[in-house]
Formats: sequence, structure tokens, C-alpha cells
Amino acid sequence: MNEIKLLKRCLDRLRKSIKSPGLWGLIFTIILIFNFWAKPALTQQPVTITALINAGEVPYWKKLIVEDFEKENPGIHLEIIEAPNATDLTENLYTSAFILGDSPYDLIYMDVIWTGKFAAAGWLLDLSDRMSENGLKAFMDKDVEAGRYKGKLYRIPLRSDAGMLYYRTDLLEKIGAKPPETFEELINISQQLQEKKATPWGYVWQGAQYEGLPAMFVEILEGFGGFWVNPETNEVGLDKSEAIQAVEFLRRVIDKGISPPGVTTYREEEARRLFVNGKSAFLRNWPYVWASAQEEDSEVKGKIGIKPMVHLPSAKGGACLGGWGMGIAKSSKHPEEAWKAIQYFTSKAVQKRFTLETGNMSSRRELFADPEIIAKYPHYPRLQTMVESAVLRPPIAQYAQASDILQRYLNAALSNRSLSAEKMMKSAANQTRRLLGTT
Ligand code: GLC
Repeated sequence: MNEIKLLKRCLDRLRKSIKSPGLWGLIFTIILIFNFWAKPALTQQPVTITALINAGEVPYWKKLIVEDFEKENPGIHLEIIEAPNATDLTENLYTSAFILGDSPYDLIYMDVIWTGKFAAAGWLLDLSDRMSENGLKAFMDKDVEAGRYKGKLYRIPLRSDAGMLYYRTDLLEKIGAKPPETFEELINISQQLQEKKATPWGYVWQGAQYEGLPAMFVEILEGFGGFWVNPETNEVGLDKSEAIQAVEFLRRVIDKGISPPGVTTYREEEARRLFVNGKSAFLRNWPYVWASAQEEDSEVKGKIGIKPMVHLPSAKGGACLGGWGMGIAKSSKHPEEAWKAIQYFTSKAVQKRFTLETGNMSSRRELFADPEIIAKYPHYPRLQTMVESAVLRPPIAQYAQASDILQRYLNAALSNRSLSAEKMMKSAANQTRRLLGTT
């Protein structure tokens, strides 16, 4: 009450001291502007959009993306929530969030294998009209295709991935060997180096029961001329002789002590650490390893090469297509802001910054010829060729269940080598056929 009286008194005094009616008009206009424009603008909260990002990438997002994005878009706050590093665990988080109700995430950072499932379940916004076919040409075809489901576009590619074989150039030189082309050469070189005590292990890879296992396995399968599921016909190839030979190869490298027995529990990071610490001649992994292998504390700095996976002389080496892209949750209350964020993340400048810092592969074609990137990562142009001829994990809506079946039987066959590989793969194949309704 006292305050109102005081305000009245002040206004009275002001009125007495200001005689000119023009000045009153000016004051009135200023008050109007303040109330209707400046006050809301000053008190308005930015719209918050959320994204769930793999833990390993979070520091880069915070350092390279968030601050700059918010500076360019002052009305939007981008909140990054940390996801586990294992893709299957992150997929489970999304799945339970979507099943329980509206997703708490506006932006859906998606592995290349999720589009079918998420789109079929109706969880994603159709982005087909937001980007022209011409705009999409800036990205690699396989990465774009991985974002489509039944002709519609649900995911814009950010970064690509391709599985590859890393090798130690210094060790190969020591025995005058060329990088291996075939499975037998990989075994022979590993054994020679191990006999000379040049390396404790020959070959490390991902054998744990998780999504990295099928990703690694499709490369070995391709090298034996086999296949997992034909997405056109739903034919299952897991119990064919090529697939059984692929399993036998992986069991053989463990039995011969070329791969450590613990490899059946390794994910990307366990395998990478062994290699970067100089404990293995060969490593199967994704492009991100390159940057960490060149750091000062790496035992293999300046001593590594990459090539596509080894194969039978009669077949070709396969690189599994991996990669991550952004979609928008259908339940998002801020689809326009989320789309602005996607446009920003996929822009050339941001992609270049991210690539230079992380060594990851961008999905933007033009960056493979970028002189600054090539100066830092001379192997970069070769990565593009690998992606262009990469092998896909089957792009089917039931992919998560199909992968789960393969992971269980394959990991059992690798961990318990007294089991028959043929029996395990028959069971995996039959369960997959039941899943796809082809028995
Ligand atoms: C990488 C790939 C992804 C794959 C995962 C398996 O993140 O980009 O596609 O599913 O590894 O661990």
C-alpha cells in the first residue's frame, strides 16, 4: 500500500514538473514499448531442446557445438544428456522412453541400424519435406539411405563409420611382410610376430555380447562370401557353410592364441586400448581410433596403417557401415527449434570442426577433399571409398531382435568352443526365421 502511495506521489510531482503534453506522449510511448516488447523479450526464457549423446562424444559436443549453437540461436537452449557408450543400451533408453509416453528427448541421435524400428513404431517425425533431394546430395548416399524407411526420410546423417583393419607398419616391416589380404595371411603374420616376441597378441576385435559383435561379424561373413539376412527376400544365411566358416575362423584365432581369450568380452574400447598400448599387431575397429593412436602417449604413434578387412582369395573384404544421424521425436513440442539444431549440426563448418578434433568421419562428401582435414588425417580420403562399398547390417524393422539372436548364439559359440559352431548357427538361423515369419 505504502509503495502505491509513494508511486502516486512521485507521478504527481513528475506531472507538475513536466508541463509539455508532447513530453507526456513520449513517456507514454516508452512505457508501451517496454510493456509490449522489451519486457517480454527481457524476461522470456529460451526454449530448451534436449539431445541424448553417447558419453564418449559429450565432451566434444559441449566444447565444439553447444556454446556456439546457443550464441547463434539465442532463443534456444540445447541440453545435452549423457547416454551410455554401448549403442544397445542407448537404444533401450530411447525405447523405454517412447513406450512409457512422450520422449523427454527432442533430438534423437540415432545409430544407423535404428531407423527402421523407430520409424515403424511411429516415434519419429517425417523429415522428407524439410530437405530437398539436392540438399541430401551433400551427404554420402549410404548414410542418407540409412535414414529412410518406406520411402520417407527420418534421419539426417551426421557422422559415418566403417569398420576396418588397423595394422602396425613397424612390425610388418620387421618381418618384411605386406599388409595381409586374406584370413590365412593374417594368421601367418600374427604367428610369425608372436614367435619373434614382437607382440603379445596378433589380432584384437569385438567379441562381447553387444551390438559391436554383429558389426564385426558381417565383415568376416562378407570375407567368406556369406550373408546374414537378405532384406529383399528375408532369406537367412546364418547356417550356410560360409557363415559357419566365418565362426570357425574367429574360434581358430582364439584357439591359436592369436587373439586373447578375453576377446569374447571386448567392446571397442578394450580392443583399442590393447592396440594403442602396443600389445597387438592388428585391430578391427572404427575410424575414431586413428586420432587416439596418434596422441603423444600412444605406443603406436606414426606406426599404423588401415585397410579393409581380410577375406578369402575368392571374396572381397567388407567394411561394416556404422554411423550416427539426427532425427526429431514425433512428440517433441519444439520441432522447429530441433530442426534448426539439425541444420546447424550438419553444416559444413560444424562438421569440419568436429572432424578435425575427433578424427571421426563426417557424412559430408566435400570434407573428404578438405586440405586441412587431409593434412591432419592423410588416410581420410580412403575412408570415403570404404564407406561407399560398405556392408550393411540388414535394414529391417525387426533388426534389434535379429541382432539379439545373433549376439547370443555367436558369443556362446566363441566363448564356449566345445559347443558345435554348426549347431549354434543353426539355432540362430532358425530363431531368426521364426522372427521374420519365414519358417
Ligand atoms: C559404432 C557404429 C555403430 C555401431 C556401433 C557398435 O558406434 O557407428 O553403427 O552399431 O559402433 O558398437
